[in-house]
Amino acid sequence: MDIKPKDDREQLIIGEEAEEETVFNISLRPESLKNFVGQKHVIENINIAMKAAKKRKESLEHILLSGPPGLGKTTLAHIIGHEMGSKITATSGPAIERAGDLVGILTNLGEGDILFIDEIHRLSKVVEEFIYPAMENYQIDFLIDKGPYAKTIKFNLKRFTLIGATTRAGLLSAPLRSRFGMFYHLDFYERDDLVKIIKRSAELLNISLNEDAAVEIAGRSRGTPRVANRLLRRVRDYSEVKGNKKIDKEAAVSGLASHRIDSAGLDDIDRKVIKAIIDFYDGGPVGIESLAATLNEESDTIVDVVEPFLLKIGFLKRTPRGREVTKLAYDHLKIVYKKESQKELF
Ligand SMILES: Nc1ncnc2c1ncn2[C@@H]1O[C@H](COP(=O)(O)OP(=O)(O)OP(=O)(O)O)[C@@H](O)[C@H]1O
Ligand SMILES: [Mg+2]
Repeated sequence: MDIKPKDDREQLIIGEEAEEETVFNISLRPESLKNFVGQKHVIENINIAMKAAKKRKESLEHILLSGPPGLGKTTLAHIIGHEMGSKITATSGPAIERAGDLVGILTNLGEGDILFIDEIHRLSKVVEEFIYPAMENYQIDFLIDKGPYAKTIKFNLKRFTLIGATTRAGLLSAPLRSRFGMFYHLDFYERDDLVKIIKRSAELLNISLNEDAAVEIAGRSRGTPRVANRLLRRVRDYSEVKGNKKIDKEAAVSGLASHRIDSAGLDDIDRKVIKAIIDFYDGGPVGIESLAATLNEESDTIVDVVEPFLLKIGFLKRTPRGREVTKLAYDHLKIVYKKESQKELF
């Protein structure tokens, strides 16, 4: 079985967006903490930490942000930079191949500057070890020359703040994790928060839409602002083509249905994953690697992109023996749930 709409999903949720999409998202990116909707607990703590650091005229402690794609980790890192009045240098785990790549970046950081490393769980071991003293003592050791003339030179850095973002905090090594002073997990957004985000985006984009329509789109956005913004744009296109001036609930429902997004916000890929577990593994449990092989898909994509939301809404369950589809999902897909009756037989 092929899980082809991957590209579409990647554009939908993962950061690999078309240029147009990136521009669209950046224009919608809130720039200050007060425009950042939701994640109250995280925002409160970050706000306090920023105020305290400013008061002490110190740099902010290193911050690790984790959570599924599209929830606002990058946005938050930029907001922190903005609020602290700091310069932000952004890079990503896979982009830093050798420790040498980091020397230039680190030595160019000024006092209080922010280094944002996206996908920090993908840093290589060598680079990771190189980063420890930089985070801890604002020092790096680097080797100059080779062979008998080789010597290590210590270089003092300015007191910078590292903000790391990851979709998989569990993959971070313990020593790296322990060097972050603050560790926040972003969770899926409540519907009310998504409604606010959609309304704000609509206003910025000059789209007129009803409250009902915003609620409808929010309910199908998989708890994810990036998806909410994307769906808003799709519904707008649909409405424009249909000649509607204002987006109402009907237009939202039809627009989303035409993109095969159902009432729970599931798309073809979600349904394929669930159906594969039901059809080939009798509803599970099935190990992630077997499932990935059946779907001809990277297990990382399933774990990072597809699974978190299905777990969150209770359509999937993680057990020690693998992933299991729940009765809720069977009901949603209108497939008869046989498990209970089977169990009764034994
Ligand atoms: N709290 C929020 N309020 C308003 N808009 C938000 C919020 N969080 C995210 N967004 C919107 O969602 C988009 C995606 O957010 P962002 O790029 O920060 O996600 P991310 O967590 O870094 O995702 P990834 O892991 O894929 O890099 C942003 O461009 C922004 O428009
Ligand atoms: Mg990001």
